[in-house]
Amino acid sequence: MDEFEMLIRAVPDFPQPGVVFRDVTPLLADAGAFARCIDALAEPWLGEGVRAVCGIESRGFIFGAALAQKLDAGFVPLRKPGKLPPPVVGIDYALEYGHDRLEVRSDALVRGERALLIDDVLATGGTLAAAQALLERLGVELVGAAVVIELEALAGRARWQGKAPLRALLRY
Ligand code: PRP
Ligand code: ADE
Repeated sequence: MDEFEMLIRAVPDFPQPGVVFRDVTPLLADAGAFARCIDALAEPWLGEGVRAVCGIESRGFIFGAALAQKLDAGFVPLRKPGKLPPPVVGIDYALEYGHDRLEVRSDALVRGERALLIDDVLATGGTLAAAQALLERLGVELVGAAVVIELEALAGRARWQGKAPLRALLRY
């Protein structure tokens, strides 16, 4: 088991029966491991000209803001509905447990801007696919996506469109 894996807690039947929740908060609480995790997330994208890191609410904000600093890029939050003031554009999507909607400030990104998506967990892939579609609607050049954890059994990767790389630090 690697350093990051040891700091991710598996919680059975949370938030509902049948779900094994992967809790990243012990990893975040370890200063050295969190810093090394951000370094590992950033490494493949150094020199790729990323200008905006787009983080998905809410755990994607934690990794995304730190990653943006590391890549010398700005940070753009993709938020749950009703949190961002207008003007916003949004998209609805399905989750492993429930459904949701993501919104982004419609003037947060310029057409052709090189952007990177970041989230903590890729499960069914609905969230990341929705974020991808939303950013493409804004005309950004999506260089790829980074997630800390990919839950392979849920096959979320199949919903990622196109050739831009989707990189996961850990796979379960
Ligand atoms: C979790 C996780 C991802 C998403 C992955 O977010 O942080 O964003 O689910 O699921 P999917 O691949 O099946 O779409 P959640 O909506 O639980 O929000 P949170 O980060 O605020 O806890
Ligand atoms: N988001 C969706 N599924 C999840 C899981 N199993 N653990 C943590 N976050 C999640």
